Amino acid sequence: MSSVRGEFSSRIGFIMAAAGSAIGLGNIWGFPGQTAQNGGAAFVVVYIILSFIIAYPVFIAELTIGRYSQSNIVGAFKTIEGGKKFKFVGYMGVTAASLIFAFYGIIAGWMLSYVFEAIFTIAGLTEIANWCVDSGSVSRNIFFMGTFGLLTMYIVSGGVSNGIEKWSARLMPILVFILVAMIVFVLMQDGAFEGLVFYLNPDFSKITDSKLIISALGQAFFSLSLGVGTMLVYGSYIKKEENIPTIGALVTIADVGIAFLAGFLIIPAMFVAQTNGVQIYAADGSLIAGANIAFQVLPGLFKSLGVVGPVFSFIFFALMTIAALTSSISMLEVPVAYAVDDLKINRKKSTMIFGLIIMIVSIILITNMDLLFGLVISIATQWLQPIIGVFISIFIGWVMNRNHVLNELKQGFPELEKSMFFKLWPWFVRVICPTLILLIFYTSVFE
Ligand code: PHE
Repeated sequence: MSSVRGEFSSRIGFIMAAAGSAIGLGNIWGFPGQTAQNGGAAFVVVYIILSFIIAYPVFIAELTIGRYSQSNIVGAFKTIEGGKKFKFVGYMGVTAASLIFAFYGIIAGWMLSYVFEAIFTIAGLTEIANWCVDSGSVSRNIFFMGTFGLLTMYIVSGGVSNGIEKWSARLMPILVFILVAMIVFVLMQDGAFEGLVFYLNPDFSKITDSKLIISALGQAFFSLSLGVGTMLVYGSYIKKEENIPTIGALVTIADVGIAFLAGFLIIPAMFVAQTNGVQIYAADGSLIAGANIAFQVLPGLFKSLGVVGPVFSFIFFALMTIAALTSSISMLEVPVAYAVDDLKINRKKSTMIFGLIIMIVSIILITNMDLLFGLVISIATQWLQPIIGVFISIFIGWVMNRNHVLNELKQGFPELEKSMFFKLWPWFVRVICPTLILLIFYTSVFE
């Protein structure tokens, strides 16, 4: 039936692909960084709560709309009764996914550049190794962004089961293995314990801080790949006999679980770095965060390990690159699925066209870093993702025919009406999610 559009071949295939999309730099780098900045475990608690009460219901909404419509985020609104007025939300989604890929590809390129730096260092080619990590070099930034972009395009052009699913299923187990192995190693080093205390000891005075709550919501949305149409289109590739609430819950748990686990790597690693003489506090006394964790503190730690340093550096940045790749393919899939479904352009061509357009946007960002980089990140993740999330909740809660929604969920979940999910979820998407998102959004914009 779905031979042109494609379909995930199995439940585990879908889980790997969706978890691959969700688990990315947002988990392994963004989450520990946000935690370090927002008072340790207090942030973790708020993030976990918001993931389950806001992000999970929206996630189920996206999967359901996708599977019901058998379409991408634009096509879904075009075909579902009452959706025409929401078509602009579809275009916003395609734009958001493309913008996210444009900046994400640059950061992923930096991760890849450190993989090569390690290889060249081991090979004794110091000069090329230095070029790989020369953050001021435009050619270096473009080269690694482009290489990462081409890798993403290669996988997406392979199709749903033969590209996205196959590569997610290959890479995700490697990712988990490397992550756990690195955690074991880091926790055995001097200084790690101090990091654990910082991570797990909540400063509850910060829990009502509006900045903390806003960051936690943004993190939950970004981390589950919501509000751009990624999960909607992945939903359209799930078989009808699958139970959406259950597999959605599994993916949410995996996503939150890996973020939590990554905290056991990054935060203790920072304190180990400090023990080894690397500076981890900024001039104002706050813990170093953001790009500097990955590109300053951790490389400092690897250097302090001596000859084995480059090996650890290679493993760590390979982990980051893999995490980024299984996410970036799901970003590119949003415009590609739109082109395949609605513009009737074949997958290879669609991938070429959108991949190249987005890379051009990336080049514009690279050459106007100070002006545009942060701006695009905040437009896409702080504005577009939550707003689209609100529209999706309102659409499934108030506009879509209630019986159609329930029948879609019932396929693969025959006992739906007897479940707790059935009692709660409709109210969450109708009232609780839109209200809470708007409220948090309002405070973030007008505080
Ligand atoms: N969830 C991914 C991460 O945590 C990012 C992402 C956002 C992927 C939006 C797809 C769509 O890194």
